[in-house]
Amino acid sequence: MCGIIGYAGSEQAAPILLEGLGKLEYRGYDSAGVAVCSRRERRLRVHKAKGWLHVLSDMLDGGAAVEGCVGVGHTRWATHGAPSDINSHPHLSRSGKIAVVHNGIIENYGELKAFLTDRGVPFASETDTEVVAQLVEYFYEDGRVDLLEAVSRCLRRIEGAYALGILCADRPEELIAARKDSPLILGYGDGCSFLASDVTALLRHTRRVAYMDDGDVAVLTKEGIRCYDYLMQPVVRETVYVDWAVDAAEKGGYEHFMFKEIMEQPEALRRAVFPRLKDGRVRLEDLSLSGSYLRGLRKLYIVACGSSYHVGMVGKYNLERMLRLPVEVALASEFRYMDPIVDENTLVVVISQSGETLDTMAALREARRLGAKILSIVNVMGSSIARESDQVLYTWAGPEIAVATTKAYSTQLAVLDLLGLHLAEALGTMEEAERDAMAAELLALPEKLERVLAERDAIQYCASEYFNRGSVFYIGRNVDYALALEGSLKLKEISYIHSEAYASGELKHGAISLIEEGSLVVALATCGRLFDKAMSNIAEVRSRGGRVLALATEDRREEMAKTADNVVAIPNTHPLLLPSLGVAPLQLFAYYVALMRGCDIDKPRNLAKSVTVE
Ligand code: G6P
Repeated sequence: MCGIIGYAGSEQAAPILLEGLGKLEYRGYDSAGVAVCSRRERRLRVHKAKGWLHVLSDMLDGGAAVEGCVGVGHTRWATHGAPSDINSHPHLSRSGKIAVVHNGIIENYGELKAFLTDRGVPFASETDTEVVAQLVEYFYEDGRVDLLEAVSRCLRRIEGAYALGILCADRPEELIAARKDSPLILGYGDGCSFLASDVTALLRHTRRVAYMDDGDVAVLTKEGIRCYDYLMQPVVRETVYVDWAVDAAEKGGYEHFMFKEIMEQPEALRRAVFPRLKDGRVRLEDLSLSGSYLRGLRKLYIVACGSSYHVGMVGKYNLERMLRLPVEVALASEFRYMDPIVDENTLVVVISQSGETLDTMAALREARRLGAKILSIVNVMGSSIARESDQVLYTWAGPEIAVATTKAYSTQLAVLDLLGLHLAEALGTMEEAERDAMAAELLALPEKLERVLAERDAIQYCASEYFNRGSVFYIGRNVDYALALEGSLKLKEISYIHSEAYASGELKHGAISLIEEGSLVVALATCGRLFDKAMSNIAEVRSRGGRVLALATEDRREEMAKTADNVVAIPNTHPLLLPSLGVAPLQLFAYYVALMRGCDIDKPRNLAKSVTVE
């Protein structure tokens, strides 16, 4: 969702802001803008445009057309007010003295707008954000307070979530930042300071960053950053060193980030798994859950959104078998409002690539309020979810840029399986030999996944056969059903083909009425013990004229080929690890279909990478 970049230094700000916005494009947006403060003129210059970033960049000659060394940039994902030049950020106060960029939602903006309108303040846009610019100016113009105090007064009046970047024409060397429930990162450069929604925008400039806490306000200048807590008391936030490679967030010769990230999965799995498996045993040194706590455990609750939720669905099947404990999986957006049965004997496992998804964050807080311990599986270090959890297992997948997640899904799944092995050992719920066998297969996953990816031409061929379908069904049982959910999501996200995932046994309770001559059903049949059941369901589809693209294990390839129209095979592995291999052909199928349909694969319409609103 909205992306923010800010710069205070000695170089021209606009080119730096535009380059930083380029790195934030992946978050999802519909318009972009910059505001730059010119010390010479003591005024703010704002430029913004609906559409992709290149529209703005061309307008500003790559930034060369704008003078000034302090500024903010923004990519907007519309919430209040349609995408338009006027609704784009930055927003100016009525005198043009204050400029604001914002990520989040000001929930009481209606009330504040009425308050200001009653006092004669005119509004230019339909956004919630504009009230911040107008309100800061309202307090500031009063003349009795300085800018920082005016910002602080404004923050005390607004409700909701915000990451803010604020400029004032009277303070041309300063940029003010504030955050609550939306991510914002401070970057420490050499003779300059930065502000960004995430570290990928900063990697080219600095690796020394600090994560702002909720309620923090910061003042950035070229000399450094002063930070204040929610009581406006000076604080020092710990700086951390980000070791992501600069090119990890770049395409490196690939046509799309999504394809690059699909191909990076074996390496990402090595990073996530190998250091945690020593002499065939799981060693989660980043985890400390006491024996007595684990013995008292009555239930696991997995909470997440989107693909992370689908990882949780596989987790339910796997962890219940490994731990013989009930595992519930809930969508974070539902968990908050469903009065969940959670107490101190429940371990809540929160899964989030970004660590910033607002619903997931809110669910985490609700679970904590109910007394549960929180263990999160997160990719982005220092993210809000990581920081608010009792325990964190990082996925070490590196930056993921494509909106449709691939390597984050794979590493989340592997880490969840590692967690299962760790808990199974502590609880004594799996035979040692069985644990060893699964651990050995986890180590073999990267190499087997490489074999799957090497066969991508066959999947591309299938895509060429089916890319013009109007609707696709994904079916499977057990972990194949959990995998079907992810396969179906991948396809609809990037190719805009309507698709649905069904537990195979459920097809005949409704959706089979939609199967007609030529309908495509992607049948996942990797679970050996359920293979015959899968074959029956495939026969049901075929006898109604449906076409079947099947996913099976290598040892069943030939048998499957007798019934299905097309077969994609994956290497055999431990039954609980099949989704870790099976997901790759589904990702590739979605990718190639979207490619053939000419879709914007890395930036699918209406979607955002990091969902920071409810
Ligand atoms: C968005 C992304 C998905 C992701 C979901 C949850 O919808 O497009 O790829 O699975 O958010 O995000 P999280 O960062 O919490 O895993």
